[in-house]
Amino acid sequence: MTRLLATPAQTHDFGRTLAAVLRAGDLVVLTGPLGAGKTALAQGVGAGLRVRGQVTSPTFVIARVHRPDPARGGTLPMVHVDAYRLGDVCDPIGEIDALDLDATLDDSVTLVEWGEGLVERLADEHLEVRLSRRDDDTRVVTLVPRGGAWPERIAGL
Ligand SMILES: Nc1ncnc2c1ncn2[C@@H]1O[C@H](COP(=O)(O)OP(=O)(O)OP(=O)(O)O)[C@@H](O)[C@H]1O
Ligand SMILES: [Mg+2]
Repeated sequence: MTRLLATPAQTHDFGRTLAAVLRAGDLVVLTGPLGAGKTALAQGVGAGLRVRGQVTSPTFVIARVHRPDPARGGTLPMVHVDAYRLGDVCDPIGEIDALDLDATLDDSVTLVEWGEGLVERLADEHLEVRLSRRDDDTRVVTLVPRGGAWPERIAGL
């Protein structure tokens, strides 16, 4: 499934739409080059899940837990990981292990930027959300189901 995202607002809205099919235990791997819109989409997911706190591009923090806001009907924590800074450490897999993402995985939605090749091992299946930037500065999103029931789960999006 591929869709054109013409504006940042459309990227955000797509994240909100995606949030509606997410549930506890989900691993979502956001892929695409610098500035592709991964964090913008994660912000939309956070809005859709009604979590607390600003979903941002972290400068130092690599993983952040956003708790659900029950007052707005939120029920699921969202764990947002940006593994960009692990690109040039000597043991990125060890660093990922140290984050203890498997401790929160089952009860949360886990979204990871820059995690290809590092985080797939955390779950038997995951959803890849692939973003690309076109010459006219619009974005294209492609959902790539990686195992489990993901093909059916994203079929209606
Ligand atoms: N559909 C879109 N059209 C145009 N600009 C967009 C679109 N979606 C997001 N952007 C803009 O692209 C910029 C980069 O977005 P964002 O920070 O989400 O990218 P990223 O993939 O997380 O980057 P990084 O690799 O640095 O983490 C932001 O200014 C955002 O508003
Ligand atoms: Mg980002």
